[in-house]
Amino acid sequence: MLFELARKRKTVRKFTNDTVRLEDILYCINVAREAPSGMNAQPWRFVIVSDEEIKAKIKEICEKGEREFYRKVGGELKKWLQEKNFSWHKDFLKAPFLLLVFSHIKAPYFIQSTWLAIGYILLALEEKGLSTVTYTPPNPGEVGKLIKAPSEYKLQVILPIGYSADDKEKEDRKDLHEILYINEWKAQLQ
Ligand SMILES: Cc1cc2nc3c(=O)[nH]c(=O)nc-3n(C[C@H](O)[C@H](O)[C@H](O)COP(=O)(O)O)c2cc1C
Repeated sequence: MLFELARKRKTVRKFTNDTVRLEDILYCINVAREAPSGMNAQPWRFVIVSDEEIKAKIKEICEKGEREFYRKVGGELKKWLQEKNFSWHKDFLKAPFLLLVFSHIKAPYFIQSTWLAIGYILLALEEKGLSTVTYTPPNPGEVGKLIKAPSEYKLQVILPIGYSADDKEKEDRKDLHEILYINEWKAQLQ
């Protein structure tokens, strides 16, 4: 059931070295193709990276951007990152596959449309027993250049894909009464 998949899905930042079937990744991309998009422009493009050298270069580029980001970050965000034990190290970029999702920046609603497709992918991965983290690198343009993406395509996310080796709990969700109103803001569901 869809609800079960959505409930079970959680972000995973550690992966086993177990081999992932390319067919499973293609299945997820086929699910994403069915997503709605502004004017049906289908602004998404996908790049599957499994080559170890290219993966290592992507990791190097992202960690360079992260080091800069962590040097500058302050305030609440810095506190939150420390609490979560996050750092510039992005070892999850060693996952068996990296799925890069780009969108055409001239298409109508390209961000909204592409992220809908990304949402479909997250649930499809869960269905296949696979895990990921929706990683949004600080320097997406540099990653795009590395894999020779045309300049009108912007990298939206890197999805490292593998089997989970992360035993963390799923994060809490707000209760329905905190997020849902009926007819007017503040009128609660009885
Ligand atoms: C748009 C978006 C951007 C995100 N960017 C990052 C990221 O750059 N690095 C990361 O580790 N997690 C990232 N996440 C994962 C969130 O931290 C995670 O989804 C959230 O804490 C809820 O946890 P859950 O996915 O396990 O339910 C991102 C999630 C979304 C939806």
